[in-house]
Amino acid sequence: MLSTTLVLLASLASTYGAALNRRVTCATGQTTANAACCALFPVLEDIQTNMFAGDTCSDAAHTTLRVAFHDAIGFSLTNPSFGTGADGSIFIFGQTELGFDSNLGIADAFNLEVPFINKHNISVADFIQFAAAVGLTKCPGILQPPFMFGRKDATFGAPDGTVPEPFQNVDVILARMADAGLSAAETVALLASHSIAGADDVDPTKSGLPFDSTPSLFDTQFFVETQLRGTSFPGSSGNQGEVMSGIAGELRLQSDHLLARDTATNCLWQANVNNQAHMAQSFQAAFAKMQNLGQTGLIDCSDVIPTVIPLPAAQAQSFFPPGVTHADVEQACATAAFPNLPTTPGAAATLPQIVQNPLTQGDCDDDGTGCIIAGFT
Ligand code: HEM
Repeated sequence: MLSTTLVLLASLASTYGAALNRRVTCATGQTTANAACCALFPVLEDIQTNMFAGDTCSDAAHTTLRVAFHDAIGFSLTNPSFGTGADGSIFIFGQTELGFDSNLGIADAFNLEVPFINKHNISVADFIQFAAAVGLTKCPGILQPPFMFGRKDATFGAPDGTVPEPFQNVDVILARMADAGLSAAETVALLASHSIAGADDVDPTKSGLPFDSTPSLFDTQFFVETQLRGTSFPGSSGNQGEVMSGIAGELRLQSDHLLARDTATNCLWQANVNNQAHMAQSFQAAFAKMQNLGQTGLIDCSDVIPTVIPLPAAQAQSFFPPGVTHADVEQACATAAFPNLPTTPGAAATLPQIVQNPLTQGDCDDDGTGCIIAGFT
């Protein structure tokens, strides 16, 4: 009763004077800056226990991050028919959107998240971005993700073509991102997400192929390893959107390869090498902007997000994996030399595949058919 009264008082206070910044105690016992944020604690508890159970920046954290981008980027500063941004349309209109080529594999996220969306009374749009922010906290090296609450759900789906494709050239990708309000620098900043990522569907013969040698650490290795001369494919060759990587077992997207080398982005890319603070800060800012695309009137619920895990100091230093040296770097930035990095001792080994979470499997096909209709209850 007392806690309910406190929530009511705080809600009035926030209406009449946000500057008071009065903390409230929710009916469930936690404290937060704004009474509206109390609705997030039961969701947090459920997904921490049941969706991210045992996740150490692995498949569930990766999956929730990717879908947050694919939902938010359905937005345009110039063309309202491109969608209303971070609006949940990727699931709400999943019957259409999950069938787009660019969303191949997002059905995994649908399988993972929709049972939890059905249990809680927050918008689909908020759930997608909240889950991504919580998932990021599993990844050592990330800075505290802010979280804004109160997104409105989509009333129509995004059309095909809003999500960049790995086989597109840099001009096309940057133009699409700019059309959504994200600069070249913000695009490179956001691509730090590929430091905690891999591909399940680019190579149809293998899933969980990592984009760098440390896919469970939000570290700078992705920016180092995409700059290495390509030598092999981790599985089959000839896949659209894939080029050879410099590390056995690693998958390199053609888009990442080109962004690392194009004059529009190569120095922005290299600036992340051996600069954990720059990478983490620029990602934090760009990700916060991305999460709110197309949405207004949001409430700051950042204090609901769990505390992040720091990167152990030794891992903040970029390195060359075993067998790799500076001679393997394809220098692209014309104004600064690629840093000299230590080579990890030992023999070169093939990277392991990222273990897939059983909750991302289920009855959905990866082309988005077979799972959509029965999704929401
Ligand atoms: C801008 C150009 C981008 C392109 C062309 C691109 C493309 C891709 C592709 C092809 C995959 C592999 C999908 C699969 O086969 O499973 C992937 C994975 C991933 N991407 Fe991107 N991406 C881009 C930007 C982003 C951004 C901005 C984010 C997040 C903010 C992001 C987060 C991820 C994550 C976390 C994964 C791994 C998903 C998993 O393991 O389940 N990507 N991306």
